[in-house]
Amino acid sequence: MKVIRAKDYADMSRKAAAVIAAQIIMKPDCVLGLATGSTPIGTYEDLVKQYEAGELDFSQVTSVNLDEYKGLSPENDQSYRYFMNDHLFNHVNIDKAKTNVPDGLEKDADKACADYDAIIASVHGIDLQLLGLGHNGHIGFNEPADSFSKGTNCVSLTKSTIDANKRFFASEADVPTQAYTMGCASIMGAKKILLVVSGRDKAGILKEVICGPVTPRVPASILQLHPDVTVIADEDALSEI
Ligand code: F6R
Repeated sequence: MKVIRAKDYADMSRKAAAVIAAQIIMKPDCVLGLATGSTPIGTYEDLVKQYEAGELDFSQVTSVNLDEYKGLSPENDQSYRYFMNDHLFNHVNIDKAKTNVPDGLEKDADKACADYDAIIASVHGIDLQLLGLGHNGHIGFNEPADSFSKGTNCVSLTKSTIDANKRFFASEADVPTQAYTMGCASIMGAKKILLVVSGRDKAGILKEVICGPVTPRVPASILQLHPDVTVIADEDALSEI
């Protein structure tokens, strides 16, 4: 793992955007694995600025997102499809037909997961996978478990994740309890992985991810086994290492 120390959130975002921009410049028809959550928002803002300045062209880029809440439509402003449109896709020249997010409206979980695995297979490999880190070490919505997940799976969200997400919903009762997520094996299949982490509240879990044992109890610890992982974390997130 290569760990890059950023001064603060803005610096982390600028550095992460630089890695993604370099990927698009070096391979304009690349496949980007994308994440939602609060951490990558600044990264997406930076990429939009680079696009607006004429420095980036997304026209040939394909994207596959990590996850989606089960039961939320693309029009629901808490869905991850909405998030991606709002923070990135609506502001750059990416072809929306080449942007992929699991289908939250598919009620048949087996079908939703098989369909998304087929999409991941059809793009012939993710060049760069962007990840955020959950407080319990989750990546995508792969929560602590007895074994690492493989392909796309339907997960029941833990209390900690529901608590972390409820700030975005009118009430806790509105927070979806299940989600579709790309599996750990699919994430590990990406050629390069970029993990962005910010804030003192992530310092303990980031230490476990980087320095602790590889265990499905800390799903992100599996990244230690990937040959090309860059962690960009701010000083607060690195304060326990
Ligand atoms: C979202 C995702 C999640 C988040 C994680 C951290 O697509 O994959 O694993 O990256 O929950 O979320 P934030 O960045 O809001 O702390």
